[in-house]
Amino acid sequence: MTATGAEITGRTGVYVHLSHPSTHVRTPQTFNRAFAERGIDVVAVSADVAPADLAATVDGLRGWRNLAGIGVTMPHKAAIAALCDELTPAAAAIGSANAIKRTEDGRLIGENTDGSGFVRGLTDHAIPVAGAHALVVGVGGAGRAVAWALAEAGVATLTLANRTAAKAEDLAAQLGAAHPGVAVAAGPPDPSGHTLVVNATSLGMRESDPLPVDPDRLAPRTVVAEIIMEPRETPLMRAAAGRGCVVQEGLPMLTSQIDLVVEYLGLGKGESRA
Ligand SMILES: NC(=O)c1ccc[n+]([C@@H]2O[C@H](COP(=O)([O-])OP(=O)(O)OC[C@H]3O[C@@H](n4cnc5c(N)ncnc54)[C@H](OP(=O)(O)O)[C@@H]3O)[C@@H](O)[C@H]2O)c1
Repeated sequence: MTATGAEITGRTGVYVHLSHPSTHVRTPQTFNRAFAERGIDVVAVSADVAPADLAATVDGLRGWRNLAGIGVTMPHKAAIAALCDELTPAAAAIGSANAIKRTEDGRLIGENTDGSGFVRGLTDHAIPVAGAHALVVGVGGAGRAVAWALAEAGVATLTLANRTAAKAEDLAAQLGAAHPGVAVAAGPPDPSGHTLVVNATSLGMRESDPLPVDPDRLAPRTVVAEIIMEPRETPLMRAAAGRGCVVQEGLPMLTSQIDLVVEYLGLGKGESRA
């Protein structure tokens, strides 16, 4: 039996979630609840795999005929992209994958839903993205995904700021070439003149962290979006709310990805418990 009471049988698909360490991940309980709610006959399990064992583990999973999919989180997202046989345009552009589909002949196709999850989290909260003047501060793994998805979603302008400036300049060149309709530039983390400001750095995970942008330069009604999930309310979110901004927390980026992963893996089509 799963935690939700559904019986696991020989027909049940397995969604394997790879991470290291795995004790902190909430994917098994979140996805098992989602599968049960949708009547999908798949069970999610967590696998704690050290980086040195990733290639052998992934190779072994190719032979699992009842593999419903592979979920991936830190520290494996970039490494697993190189182990896939094929990547979607998003995963190829971002350089990492967090959802892997197994084809019937054992090929693995990697997708990245971080950025599309972020955008869906905004639109689900009635925050328009197309036409926005966006500033993304932080172009690490998650920031790259967010920037790519914002360009795909049709922001008018996109400014990329990063502590290591060369990374922002490289990404701006790449995104600008791929999205000629979007004015992409690297720049300072100055929120003035932007309608959507995203904190995609890890600044804010600790109360003592400096703020990623100067809140005094935030205009009222600017959308300020976090991707940090813990703490749920960061110092930036408090400061932005004090300036009269529209504040989006980090959790919807993750919860929106459940539907995107289920859609990508084609679950719920022939996997039903009903
Ligand atoms: N909500 C979600 O679904 C979701 C999904 C993925 C990640 N996240 C969260 O997003 C955050 C970033 O994750 P990640 O995977 O992108 O991490 P990452 O690849 O390590 O990138 C960290 C980013 O923060 C910047 N940074 C770190 N310390 C800084 C400092 N002291 N001053 C200025 N910039 C600093 C880094 O700049 P440099 O390039 O200069 O080092 C880089 O841009 C984490 O809190 C993670 O939990 C949330």
